[in-house]
Order: sequence, then C-alpha cells, then structure tokens
Amino acid sequence: MTSRVIAIDGPAGSGKSTTASAVAALLGLPHVESGALYRALTLAALDAGTAFVGQRLVALAHSLPVRLDLTDAGFRPEVAGTDVSEPIRSERVTARVSELSAIAEVREWVNEELRAAVERHPRGAVLDGRDIGTVVFPDAALKIFLVARPEERARRRLLQDGREATPEAIEHEVAELERRDHLDSTRAVAPLTQAADAVPLDTSDLTFEDQVEAIVSRARKAFS
Ligand code: DC
Repeated sequence: MTSRVIAIDGPAGSGKSTTASAVAALLGLPHVESGALYRALTLAALDAGTAFVGQRLVALAHSLPVRLDLTDAGFRPEVAGTDVSEPIRSERVTARVSELSAIAEVREWVNEELRAAVERHPRGAVLDGRDIGTVVFPDAALKIFLVARPEERARRRLLQDGREATPEAIEHEVAELERRDHLDSTRAVAPLTQAADAVPLDTSDLTFEDQVEAIVSRARKAFS
C-alpha cells in the first residue's frame, strides 16, 4: 500500500517548513518537520557538552528524551519535556546541525521517530526534510522537491527571522546557505538529492499561496 505521506524535500531555505505547514493545515493532516529533530538533538548535545559521536548522541536522545510531541494541533520538539521550538532556531544550533545530521546512527534514530509518529496518524501526514522521499518514506503518495534561487532563499530566510534583507545581509546568507547545501548534498549517508519520482517545484517566482496550492491539488489527486 502506498503510504499516505506527502514528502516535501529540498535545500535549506527553500521554504519547505512553512509550505509543508500550510499544506498540512489545508488537508487537515499533521505536519512533521524532520529538521526539528536534528536541531533538538544538536541543542541537547551542545547544552550537555556531549561529543558528536553517534552512540553517545543516540543515548542522550533516549535518556533526556529528545522527542517530537505530535498531536492533531501540530507538533512540538521537546528536550526533557521542555518545548524547544525557539532555541532550536538559534545560530549556535544552525552552525552545528549539518555536522550532527551526517552521523548514520543519528539518522537512524530520527527515521525511527518519524516512522513511529506517522504510524500514529493513519489518515496521513505531511513531512518535510532532505531525505523523506528518498529514504524515510520511499513509498510516499506524493513527493515534492522544492527549489528556489539562492538569493530568493536568502531573502526569505532573513524576512522570516525578522531581519532586514540588505544586499550585505543577503550575500552573507547566500554563503551560509551554500555552505549547508554543500554539507547536506555531499555527506556519505542519505545526501540531499531529488527522488526519481519527485515533482520538482521552483518557487522563486511563485507566490506562497500558489506554491501551496500547486502541492495541495496534487495531494488531493494522489489521495483520491
Ligand atoms: O530544515 P532545517 O534547516 O531545519 O534542517 C536542519 C539540518 O538538518 C540541515 O542542515 C540538514 C538536516 N536534515 C537532514 O539531514 N535530513 C532531514 N530530513 C532534515 C534535516
């Protein structure tokens, strides 16, 4: 049976998370942001002073625990029972998360958490990340690969963070996005890549509403 999963993958700053959230709301499905788990474990490891070694990180994730609390109202990443939705977006987490997400044991732990979360929602779910359509749910009902020009991704990220999109800030942000793209696409385990059966969607010149609608209409067809 094809899994009732909508997989939205793409590089950093392509708008996956905000898009997935809006698509999920329109379809009445939960949204699972896989990057939040990598970020929550990065935050926990930095706070605990845990070395970035696979088994130690997974042990930390289980003991605290680091988890995704997923309800119909949405999800929240938690560390030891505390909501970490905000601190996982901090610069110090963003700077180290690609390094942690390149570790095979960490990826296995995240993938188990994601599959368990989806199993609790038989009506389906919308997941976003880098490898949802290629590795985590290769039988997803619909796979979307979001792309956008680097300058546009940088501009959106700055606005999302409440910062001004000056030419200097855009230049700095493009360099940071390209650094993460490179790390995410060249790592040995589950690199960022478009699934053969994914629908590519370049959002550079689309309004947010149009890009959400493009996915929702395909999802309705896939689920009908
Ligand atoms: O989407 P994001 O920027 O919050 O993701 C944070 C990091 O986690 C990113 O550098 C790559 C990694 N990630 C991943 O490797 N696989 C996923 N499915 C989701 C995120």
